[in-house]
Amino acid sequence: MNSVTASAPGKVILAGEHFVVKGEPAVALAVNLRVYVTVKEGRENITIKSNYLKNKVTLSLYNLGNTKSKIGKVVATILKSLTKDGDIPPLDIVINSEIPPRYGMGSSAALSVALIKALSEYLGLKLNREEVNEIAYKAEEVVHGTPSGIDNTVSTYGGIIVFRRGEGFIRLNADTSSVGLVAAYSGTFKDTKELVIRAKTLSDKYPRVFDPLYHAAGRLALEVAKALKEGNFHAVGELMNVNQGLLSALGVSSLQLERLVYRFREVGAFGAKLTGAGGGGCVIALVPKEALNRVMEAVRPYTNWVKELKVSYEGVRLEVSRG
Ligand code: PMV
Repeated sequence: MNSVTASAPGKVILAGEHFVVKGEPAVALAVNLRVYVTVKEGRENITIKSNYLKNKVTLSLYNLGNTKSKIGKVVATILKSLTKDGDIPPLDIVINSEIPPRYGMGSSAALSVALIKALSEYLGLKLNREEVNEIAYKAEEVVHGTPSGIDNTVSTYGGIIVFRRGEGFIRLNADTSSVGLVAAYSGTFKDTKELVIRAKTLSDKYPRVFDPLYHAAGRLALEVAKALKEGNFHAVGELMNVNQGLLSALGVSSLQLERLVYRFREVGAFGAKLTGAGGGGCVIALVPKEALNRVMEAVRPYTNWVKELKVSYEGVRLEVSRG
């Protein structure tokens, strides 16, 4: 095979981020922003180029792990999982991402999932989705330390899912055609690993305070799933607002995030909350379809990036292979 391209979607979490790390259920959906990865024959090393990387990263075939670059480490982990030692051909990897990194929209998981698909096809391995997902989890560990697995799972399978760490996921069938989902960037990046540690440190310190909050967040996610299925978006929005309060209590919100959250609510969203790790990144809002344009215009002065998102029912997919 001379060249293979695969892609995978990013995600937003409607309910339950952070709480999901300690085993509570959460609801996530894949979105219509994707990462595209092309793998081609290289000259002598592994080279990685990305529209979000200033410089090309090069990995030596004989010492793959010897890199400071995060993306380099992810590629090395994936290559080691897919090949036997010494069996790695020279490769050029080209990444084209529609998902800005560190916005809380699962760019790293989508990159890993797409890369595993492209590489495995290039190497002639026929991996099923479960195998792609398992390897993507290992790659997520390199970036996030102790990921719950929700990001790689929703990126691999697509659609709307209810996920529980250690138990897996179920698909949620919901008709979302009468509602709009909007994401807006808070203006500051976030670091998932650092925020997961922050939430864990605070909740471990006061277990008698936080155990009931974690339990409530888990119940909340299940209520969100039920309301989504019933098409009760007013309830979904209300529960998103409660979820935002719980995330705030966990110390992962910020002034910029709160400003956007309140602006969205003020101008007619059903509900709004941070999404992903928090501390920065994006706010998502659920908005009545007829108010979509008005709401987006009203938040524009508060953000430099606002976008309507759609559910992507397709998870990882092969785009082209030429050989
Ligand atoms: O911010 P993101 O897209 O990396 O999402 C992180 C979600 C967390 O629940 C905070 C962590 C996890 O592993 O589930």
